[in-house]
Amino acid sequence: MKVLITGGAGFLGSHLAEAWLDRGHDVTVLDPAGDLKVRHLRVNPRFRTIRESVLNREILDGLVAWSDLVYHLAAVVGVEHYVGDPYQVLTVNINGTQEVLTAAFRHGKKVVFSSTSEVYGRNTAVPFDEDSDRVLGSTRTDRWCYATSKAAGEHFCFAYARMGLRVVVLRYFNVYGPRLDQLDRGRVVTIFIGQLLRGEPLTVIGDGSQTRTFTYVDDAVRATVQAGLRPEAEGQAINVGSEEEISIGDLAARMIRITGSSSRLIFVPQDAVYANGYEDIPRRVPAVRRMHELLGVRAETTLDKGLEQTIEWFKRP
Ligand SMILES: NC(=O)c1ccc[n+]([C@@H]2O[C@H](COP(=O)([O-])OP(=O)(O)OC[C@H]3O[C@@H](n4cnc5c(N)ncnc54)[C@H](O)[C@@H]3O)[C@@H](O)[C@H]2O)c1
Repeated sequence: MKVLITGGAGFLGSHLAEAWLDRGHDVTVLDPAGDLKVRHLRVNPRFRTIRESVLNREILDGLVAWSDLVYHLAAVVGVEHYVGDPYQVLTVNINGTQEVLTAAFRHGKKVVFSSTSEVYGRNTAVPFDEDSDRVLGSTRTDRWCYATSKAAGEHFCFAYARMGLRVVVLRYFNVYGPRLDQLDRGRVVTIFIGQLLRGEPLTVIGDGSQTRTFTYVDDAVRATVQAGLRPEAEGQAINVGSEEEISIGDLAARMIRITGSSSRLIFVPQDAVYANGYEDIPRRVPAVRRMHELLGVRAETTLDKGLEQTIEWFKRP
């Protein structure tokens, strides 16, 4: 099979590319970013990267025509972008998704779209099943642009599904693992690891009571591969996550315990970090019945094991 992965030079895409190559398939990555995270795959003759934007219609169309299956992961991701460059977030995440779906529809190719737990916004009724409400704040608060962009992408997916496109929407819940961001940048796990490895205090934003569930990348990738293969997933939105809920304060404490570090915790008020463009979500837990039933996948990696493996990877020279 020929697999196209937009945004495939990123964290999740690099692991997905590896998984399809391991199964003996051809993989092309379309991503303007450097190939740091996929460099190790270049020795495989079945692998290639095209360093271009998903907004380049001509190139995108040619690659979709070549492929049998399209994974659309390309997106502007990360809180710093939601509050720093909402224009770019909206343009790439909405227009890019429309371009991919249009090309896939034209060529009759199946698409797996990467959405996010962020679409549920600040809904407090956990666990979120896939038909739960989206509860978002004002459009004057930039942080909602990402959730809005992904929800618009989902609407496009379902609109195309009505016209006959085979499409699956996956909503990932905090996926982490080796190659996640650079240390100190991006998401909470890499920020904490950077601080831990230098023996500095871990900076918990707010009072640390906000909870998340973390999904180890191998589990997320198994679900993503199955979404590409299983016809019963088509036309569905499916949460991809673990039910192991943990507060950010406890996550920091657990990471200190796992590494045997002497770091301590310091609590930083949210306004000091994100000015007024951000608003944190109190709890976020997925209902995972659809992931089990439609994809046949469970998040099996415990948080301790996943964190150990991730920290080990970041410690490497
Ligand atoms: N990792 C998670 O926890 C998580 C959670 C929810 C949703 N997601 C979604 O999964 C996908 C992958 O996320 P990730 O964690 O690997 O993030 P990532 O930032 O590592 O990967 C995104 C990739 O998209 C690429 N990209 C940006 N603009 C592009 C463009 N115009 N054309 C082509 N590629 C472009 C980036 O260069 C990057 O390599 C994203 O769509 C993201 O929204 C991830």
